[in-house]
Amino acid sequence: HGKLLTYHKFAIKTHATVCMVCNIFKNGKCVEGKGNCTLKEGGECRTRDIYSFTLKDGFFYNYTILDCSKPCKAWRLVRGYLRVASFCCRSRNFCNRYHGKIAKQFVH
Ligand SMILES: *[C@@H]1O[C@H](CO)[C@@H](O)[C@H](O)[C@H]1NC(C)=O
Ligand SMILES: *[C@@H]1O[C@H](CO)[C@@H](O)[C@H](O)[C@H]1NC(C)=O
Repeated sequence: HGKLLTYHKFAIKTHATVCMVCNIFKNGKCVEGKGNCTLKEGGECRTRDIYSFTLKDGFFYNYTILDCSKPCKAWRLVRGYLRVASFCCRSRNFCNRYHGKIAKQFVH
């Protein structure tokens, strides 16, 4: 009986998607708060590109936040001097590091 339970747990684990977690992801690297999270049912890996504002440059891409989110919604937020673009994915492990601005940086 114990063996069956162990096998069951293992089976769930191998199917769960792991997402990258990072508080500040810049130039293809995690600068602060690196980790990972495992998706629960209905959750998705989330990528949020943060755009900051300066009087000199206007809006510019500053950094990306990576985490798990349930629910996860792809959207754009513009509020004052803050702009955020969110992306969601669950297709494969660490898929959230390939979205948005990051994707372009990985290509070049
Ligand atoms: C997730 O993070 C833990 C702890 O930081 C690490 O031991 C583990 O290898 C990571 N998992 C994957 C799939 O990278
Ligand atoms: C860009 O992000 C860094 C890290 O969070 C922050 O310290 C800095 O103030 C941001 N730049 C602007 C112009 O808001």
